[in-house]
Amino acid sequence: MNEAIQQHQPDIVAPLLEEPSASGRTILIADDDRAIRTVLSQALGRAGYEVRTTGTAATLWTWVSDGAGDLVITDVVMPDENGLDLIPRIKKIRPDLRIIVMSAQNTLLTAVKATERGAFEYLPKPFDLTELVGVVRRALSAPPQPVPGADGDRSQDEGLPLIGRSAAMQEIYRTLARLMNTDLTVMVTGESGTGKELVARALHDYGKRRTGPFVAINMAAIPRDLIESELFGHEKGAFTGATTRGVGRFEQADGGTLFLDEIGDMPPEAQTRLLRVLQENEYTTVGGRTAIRANVRIVAATHRDLTQLIRQGLFREDLFYRLNVVPIRLPALRERPEDIPELVRHFQAQIMDEGLPAKILDALAMDRLKRHRWPGNVRELENLVRRLAALYSQETISVDVIEAELATAPPTPANGGGTNEGLGSLVERHLREYFAAHDESLPPSGLHDRVLREVERPLIALSLEATRGNQIRAAQVLGLNRNTLRKKIRELDIQVTRGVR
Ligand SMILES: Nc1ncnc2c1ncn2[C@@H]1O[C@H](COP(=O)(O)OP(=O)(O)OP(=O)(O)O)[C@@H](O)[C@H]1O
Ligand SMILES: [Mg+2]
Repeated sequence: MNEAIQQHQPDIVAPLLEEPSASGRTILIADDDRAIRTVLSQALGRAGYEVRTTGTAATLWTWVSDGAGDLVITDVVMPDENGLDLIPRIKKIRPDLRIIVMSAQNTLLTAVKATERGAFEYLPKPFDLTELVGVVRRALSAPPQPVPGADGDRSQDEGLPLIGRSAAMQEIYRTLARLMNTDLTVMVTGESGTGKELVARALHDYGKRRTGPFVAINMAAIPRDLIESELFGHEKGAFTGATTRGVGRFEQADGGTLFLDEIGDMPPEAQTRLLRVLQENEYTTVGGRTAIRANVRIVAATHRDLTQLIRQGLFREDLFYRLNVVPIRLPALRERPEDIPELVRHFQAQIMDEGLPAKILDALAMDRLKRHRWPGNVRELENLVRRLAALYSQETISVDVIEAELATAPPTPANGGGTNEGLGSLVERHLREYFAAHDESLPPSGLHDRVLREVERPLIALSLEATRGNQIRAAQVLGLNRNTLRKKIRELDIQVTRGVR
């Protein structure tokens, strides 16, 4: 995501109001770890705040009930009481007291619960002290928060939709938790198989529209000329074949969430129409006249680079800004290898529920998984775990099995195997990697010619190879004049071997 675009993002956390003065503000800190108490009180003391620290929830509770403090920073796991359980009690007697929760527990549920119970912010440990001071400042200047309703809580043992405790995933959980009580439009990006759909569902399941429907539509899976009627519905007789009235996804998702998957594949006319609907919050069915009020929360997703599509004129920039209100970029699995063991356990548990035996991966095998590039990301890992359960009789899986499985892994769209990846997108992918790798060190000029030569060279060489060096055939295959081909062979210094394949 380029910087210019990021600057367009509104601050979803809390608008920065007047910088409040730190003096005279007291912060209450509860954490059973003395080292953390010391570090925090030093940092906040330096920023000008009064600080009181304690290692128990009980003392914190006494201070709060005495009316002390302007802000609370609390840990979750403490010897006498769980910090999360304290939040509703505090909010009950002092609804305006801001609470920041910090935790090393680090699951989506911690983030969600903290927010649900009325915490201002959730900080996964370890965090940056500058960040903490920033959050404290924002908390003290933010307008009063509504006290969450009683129906807001969920049970402790509920299954977690998203697995992984890496720093990258923690960031995602924080963002999800902040978005829980909003209707903001979200754009989820990330490579194939990174969990974009899962995130869209989590946004719905933990959001305020969770009692409404979740409706998904995949732009890449629907014929281009049907997208508008699929989205907005159509009247009887609106087009050939429309023998009855058709209900669109906007209508189906009324009161809930509409997930626009593979938004990068949306055809231009549909993009224009969607933009208008988002601007006006109203739509008409295909062939219909009356405007219908849209009541959906939009979550969009794509594995494609939208900024690039915009540059190529394939995606409307104005629609992009409408959708990209809150961007969530999912990390590739290779960026968070530390999550792999937990993901493996998670998929094994699922498999056991289905009646298949779970396998034990020995240490080397697990290590090998952590070093794999995972072009198909979590989906690829999930498929591998399933194959191990189904195809191998031994209980313990060794590194050799993993090597063999990774070597024969069925192609995923991301590793260039899928039948639907045309030459164009293959080249595009390589070029994208090239530009990403050369960020600072791009050649001063001549790149266009160089790239064309680099593509042309293997193209001609392989055509000659495929025709066993028969230049007449190769010229036909390529659709080139024979003399042109001969010239190119000379220029590009290609060796022609006859009759060998
Ligand atoms: N963090 C995660 N924890 C547990 N399971 C995950 C996680 N991320 C992805 N998965 C699983 O991996 C599979 C792929 O996820 P999902 O379909 O959400 O990916 P996607 O990003 O939408 O992929 P695509 O771009 O190919 O549509 C699903 O089975 C999903 O349950
Ligand atoms: Mg998907």
